[in-house]
Amino acid sequence: MTQQFEHFKPVALNHASRLLNHGPTVLVASAHEGRRNIMAAAWSMPVEFTPPRIAVVIDKHTFSRELIAASGVFALCIPGAAAADLAYAVGTASGRESDKFARFGIEARTGEATGAPLIASGCVAWLECRLIPERHAEDAYDTCFAEVVAAAADERVFSEGHWSFREDNADLHTLHHLGAGVFARASTMIKAKALP
Ligand SMILES: Cc1cc2nc3c(=O)[nH]c(=O)nc-3n(C[C@H](O)[C@H](O)[C@H](O)COP(=O)(O)O)c2cc1C
Repeated sequence: MTQQFEHFKPVALNHASRLLNHGPTVLVASAHEGRRNIMAAAWSMPVEFTPPRIAVVIDKHTFSRELIAASGVFALCIPGAAAADLAYAVGTASGRESDKFARFGIEARTGEATGAPLIASGCVAWLECRLIPERHAEDAYDTCFAEVVAAAADERVFSEGHWSFREDNADLHTLHHLGAGVFARASTMIKAKALP
């Protein structure tokens, strides 16, 4: 392996999260008592295997957080590359004043396990989640922990437990937010070989 440290330059700590930013951007969909909403989140990750649990950062000040705190459920919907504009749009407008589903023509159906909205428009997978109530979380943290209680994915790009990113399904590849509305599309797959 070549020594490449000479190419490394310090990264300001306020930009450090961007080094990890490019997990798939998700759309967080929520609903409570007739109100529904959708926002983008670049910061989400699995945190437990069994039962499957995830963490997602949902700013305390968002309308989404309000609906999720009230309903105790939400869905993480994973947009395909063709939905980059939509992901950015729902991440830069608040649903407090207007219904983003109507405004952006987003199609959804109701999740059977949680009642949270599942996004059809441009999404390639979804996870229905139940919020894990945490003492003081409302005041202290933007991070929410949740248990995944149902999930599904578009078999053209995810089957038998694996993503399959190919040229013929490029519009269905996941989106990875690099910051400031710029995304990368997952594209080349690299299969690791055993080192001698
Ligand atoms: C690509 C992208 C990624 C984002 N990631 C996050 C995130 O991980 N966590 C978060 O709280 N807000 C994130 N945001 C901002 C929210 O989506 C934004 O505050 C949204 O308008 C909240 O909507 P709401 O008030 O209707 O819930 C992101 C925005 C964009 C465009």
